[in-house]
Amino acid sequence: MLADGDRSNDNRLSFDLPCTKKSLARAREKIRRFAVDNGFETQVEDIQLATQEAIKNVIQHACPADNNIRVDLLASGDSIEVEVSDMGMGFDADTVMRRDKAPMAVDGRGFVLMEGLMDTVGVTSDSEGTVVRMEKSRGDGTTGGPEG
Ligand SMILES: Nc1ncnc2c1ncn2[C@@H]1O[C@H](COP(=O)(O)OP(=O)(O)OP(=O)(O)O)[C@@H](O)[C@H]1O
Ligand SMILES: [Mg+2]
Repeated sequence: MLADGDRSNDNRLSFDLPCTKKSLARAREKIRRFAVDNGFETQVEDIQLATQEAIKNVIQHACPADNNIRVDLLASGDSIEVEVSDMGMGFDADTVMRRDKAPMAVDGRGFVLMEGLMDTVGVTSDSEGTVVRMEKSRGDGTTGGPEG
């Protein structure tokens, strides 16, 4: 779960999805509504795509016994945080996140994409599961985001 903050205007959405391809479209729609409702229209496509890649990884690589993907969203004044969690087999995140990507590689692009779309991407993974945490700032100069 996302850490509790004391920001009074925080807004949250959590949902669970099964490991099926249909979950990608369902997640995109829920994220779109949540992001737009919280005033992140400009960022919505990047957040949708990055979250989709994290969900796709659970479907393709994690094989959790409980067939469940957890998505937690937190909107605050200046950013949206997303967590995608699974209780699958996990992986060596340090090695995967540090490796160089060949420019023409046809796979292994998911985390490269997430890092390009979001401001921060962090992964914790062990044999009990994986949590991918991502954040995207509003960055429009009105609320002190990094690009503003
Ligand atoms: N939730 C997860 N559980 C277990 N392993 C994972 C998870 N997410 C990622 N991985 C591992 O990290 C690797 C890199 O993921 P990444 O999304 O960058 O590339 P990919 O999924 O192999 O290829 P692509 O995303 O381009 O189809 C995966 O091949 C997989 O071994
Ligand atoms: Mg992937």
